[in-house]
Amino acid sequence: MEIVASGIRPTGNLHLGNYFGAVKSFLQMQNEYQCYFFIADWHSLTTHPHPDNIRNSVKTILAEYLACGIDPEKAALYVQSDVREVAELYLYLNMNAYLGELERVTSFKDKVRTQPNNVNAGLLTYPSLMAADIIIHKAVKVPVGKDQEQNMEMARHFARRFNNIYGVDYFTEPASFHLSAKAVKVPGLDGSGKMGKSEGNAIYLIDDEKTIKKKVMKAVSDSGPTEPNSEKPEPIANLFAMMEIVSEQSTYDHFNELYNNCSIRYGDMKKQLAEDINLFCAPIRERILDILANEEYLEKVARQGAEKARASAAKTLSEVRQIIGFRP
Ligand code: ADP
Ligand code: TRP
Repeated sequence: MEIVASGIRPTGNLHLGNYFGAVKSFLQMQNEYQCYFFIADWHSLTTHPHPDNIRNSVKTILAEYLACGIDPEKAALYVQSDVREVAELYLYLNMNAYLGELERVTSFKDKVRTQPNNVNAGLLTYPSLMAADIIIHKAVKVPVGKDQEQNMEMARHFARRFNNIYGVDYFTEPASFHLSAKAVKVPGLDGSGKMGKSEGNAIYLIDDEKTIKKKVMKAVSDSGPTEPNSEKPEPIANLFAMMEIVSEQSTYDHFNELYNNCSIRYGDMKKQLAEDINLFCAPIRERILDILANEEYLEKVARQGAEKARASAAKTLSEVRQIIGFRP
């Protein structure tokens, strides 16, 4: 069976971008593939070197994954730092990762700009840790959002390079996986760009009705089209893109028609959008709160996931050690 791996950093709660960009694929994939889904807590140290309460953040994301419907009986659901083999593979990959290529990664360059006082080696080698996460299970499919393309390209480089350097055909190059032909980009509602934690524009699965409404009602819009069938400027296109993701097709068509005949009232559209987002989030939110209250269950899931992931990781690592020339 084909193997799938993907992770999310525990630097905040899960938001609609995470859900529609990644978790939604996880839900489908867990039924068809052997899946490894994890919480990338080591990765979060690259930007948050002194995590406030990392155990708590990890616990929350775990509950959120479960509330979304990840089934720990089907997929291995684990915490990255529970699988130390990943760190050893990261070490080997780093020996064959070059400064020049790492420095060229866009997200690294962005971070150099946004956190100039903490340009650490972990940040630089983020792509080799991510590659280790993936190839430690010999995963071939990786469900991620559009923003991870460059990291995925690096993972393929590292897998191929390992084979070349050691003269083996051991790792398969992993491919990004998207549910639809086009990768989903969940927009922010603040005028431009994507929804993200770091963008400060996220609508979280755990947000309550009031919070959702407040966030949606303050979405950037304009005074409305003056010509029928005119092109939508980015903030408006983003509102529609969000509606396309969370609302019924007929709702989308209704507002699209109002836009096209210049009679749209964005206040009405936002109200509907907030309602639809709440309809989607409310049952997940309830489950998150239930699961969070059940420490014992969360502990059991993490333990069971770590065991499954460690078994797969240990096998790969023993073979990798042998290939390089160490004792297996
Ligand atoms: P954030 O950008 O909020 O920090 P992460 O980088 O932790 O979120 O992303 C975790 C996963 O969610 C990745 O697979 C990423 O591609 C996906 N993702 C995050 N934001 C979006 C978005 N706005 N649209 C689509 N996918 C997204
Ligand atoms: N870099 C990913 C993100 O920011 C998180 C991540 C870490 C990941 N390791 C991974 C995703 C392995 C897929 C596979 O969203």
